Amino acid sequence: MFIPTPIDWTPTHAIRILDQTLLPGQECYLELDTLEDVAEAIGSLRVRGAPLIGISAAMGVAMAAKRRPAGPDGLARVREDCARLGVTRPTAINLRWALSRMERRAVAADARGEDLAAALLAEADTIWKEDRAMCVRIGQLGADLVPPGAVVGTICNAGALATGGIGTALAPIYTLHAAGRGPHVVVPETRPLLQGSRLTAWELMRAGVACTLIGDGMIASRLRRGDVGCVFVGADRIAANGDVANKIGTYGLALAARAHGIPFYVAAPTSTIDPATPDGSAIPIEERGADEVAEWGGRRTAPAGAAVWNPAFDVTPAELVTAIITDRGIVAPRDVARALD
Ligand code: MRU
Repeated sequence: MFIPTPIDWTPTHAIRILDQTLLPGQECYLELDTLEDVAEAIGSLRVRGAPLIGISAAMGVAMAAKRRPAGPDGLARVREDCARLGVTRPTAINLRWALSRMERRAVAADARGEDLAAALLAEADTIWKEDRAMCVRIGQLGADLVPPGAVVGTICNAGALATGGIGTALAPIYTLHAAGRGPHVVVPETRPLLQGSRLTAWELMRAGVACTLIGDGMIASRLRRGDVGCVFVGADRIAANGDVANKIGTYGLALAARAHGIPFYVAAPTSTIDPATPDGSAIPIEERGADEVAEWGGRRTAPAGAAVWNPAFDVTPAELVTAIITDRGIVAPRDVARALD
């Protein structure tokens, strides 16, 4: 089964990424050599998806440490790098989670007189490896929730392109597909940046998973047809009370699922749970440029001067979430913080 590799090391410890802004038209790999390259790649969504943003940032910090001469200011420089990458995108907590781990590792290495760069490279690889394992576990747990023969709904891209492994929301689908029981997936295009049509349809089709693309405005009608057995979505941050921030449109999908009695599952690694954020109202929601909405393929589609609101994420209240599938088990939204115990 084809599973894309959205990030990797080069032999010289530069970072090789698949430029997701160019998919599906071009499969183009870029080499990132500097911390600023990594910041730009995250900010412009060349690498994206909450877990992959965290992995990219961790690798960026390690790469920067490896590429400068060791010196007494090593720890201070790592802190600066973490601060720089920490502001590239506000919503996905995985970014801050991974950077905190890198900073903690740097502090420990400094205190013990270890080689800072070697310690940070090892920590970045551990974060990546752990994410891969978390995806596998989420896939195993989620696969049991899919009714036999059911169509599965999703939104955005919470697949291999968004993680270090087989994805979160798409992991149960790949797990079932590998066992010869692959469900059919309904993929909303996910306006305005089309992560559904550009990325999810691309990776599912490359893996040989049957899928049908729909416009976002078709979601409710598609769920009313009665063949969608469950919905799996990813998450950028899960608050302590179980409210879930994910790609804009997720809330509407959850409302439609509730109206039609369809189970709505959030699949996320424990690195996406933020016990310090009490509820969804405290989650910072990224707002992106007006052109993403007012233009199409570089051509203006809205009247000049039209006011635009472009939040990249929304918050689905915990009461609309049937369960959260984490790498440590399936939990009720209200109990999500217990998955961290
Ligand atoms: O803006 P993006 O493309 O980074 O948004 C991605 C999503 O909203 C995903 O659903 C989420 O990060 C989970 S990825 C496993």
